[in-house]
Amino acid sequence: MEQLYKDLAAVYEAMYYTFVDYQKEYTFYSSLFKKYQKENLLEIGSGTGNLAAYFRENGFTYLGLDMSEEMTAIAKNKYPNAEFTVEDMRFFKIDKEVQGVVMAGRTISYLRSNKDVHNTFRSVANSLEKGGIFCFDFIDASRFIPEIAGGKKITHEAVHKGVHYIRKSKWTEHLVQGMDFHWISTYYKKEVDNLIELGKDDSIIRTFTKDELVLFLKLNQFEIKEIIDKGSYAFPTYVIVAEKV
Ligand SMILES: C[S@@+](CC[C@H](N)C(=O)[O-])C[C@H]1O[C@@H](n2cnc3c(N)ncnc32)[C@H](O)[C@@H]1O
Repeated sequence: MEQLYKDLAAVYEAMYYTFVDYQKEYTFYSSLFKKYQKENLLEIGSGTGNLAAYFRENGFTYLGLDMSEEMTAIAKNKYPNAEFTVEDMRFFKIDKEVQGVVMAGRTISYLRSNKDVHNTFRSVANSLEKGGIFCFDFIDASRFIPEIAGGKKITHEAVHKGVHYIRKSKWTEHLVQGMDFHWISTYYKKEVDNLIELGKDDSIIRTFTKDELVLFLKLNQFEIKEIIDKGSYAFPTYVIVAEKV
């Protein structure tokens, strides 16, 4: 598993809390579940639990699922009353079917092979009741891969609880299996004029075209309801809303 979700989990928590407006994320996803009248939810890739409190405080039944023990420990520590489980999204089973599944924050990027996507969508379909709604976002290959072709360096900064974090990244296309990219990043803390290294992450991240995800969904009992051009702090992203038929 990526260092970002292990040794760097606390740095993720601090930096992404600054990058992502989780209240806005909650408003976006909850409005979809309200529109389709779903209130009993599973979040896949629940990370450090930043959506959990919003869902719980607003009348949704919520279960968070994530493979990282370190990320889930932070989530549990922040929200001891919320329910979280440490599992792999490709092979999970839940006791009782839910009405909605949300997978946000480009969590799908970690499904590197087609088999991984297929297994995950099958597990999601098995965990949803008939008519249930699955919403997830993904990095749009058709816009992002041309943007980084040949390599792109990018720096992200965040100030959280008085600490100034800096992440220096290099993104390079990695088109060996699918529309992947290689993301090498070093995380620092800035103190006066010194950069103190906190750790490194070296990951292969998958991006997708809309058509391939529509096909994976069709193969797993889903019908597309909406495709929304959403964007995120760093990537061009779409959100797909699909119904289990
Ligand atoms: C980019 S983070 C997004 C976290 C959270 N949704 C957010 O927006 O802050 C991706 C998350 O997916 C989780 N993850 C990666 N591979 C996974 C897998 N196979 N099964 C379950 N979770 C996984 C990581 O541990 C991480 O918490």
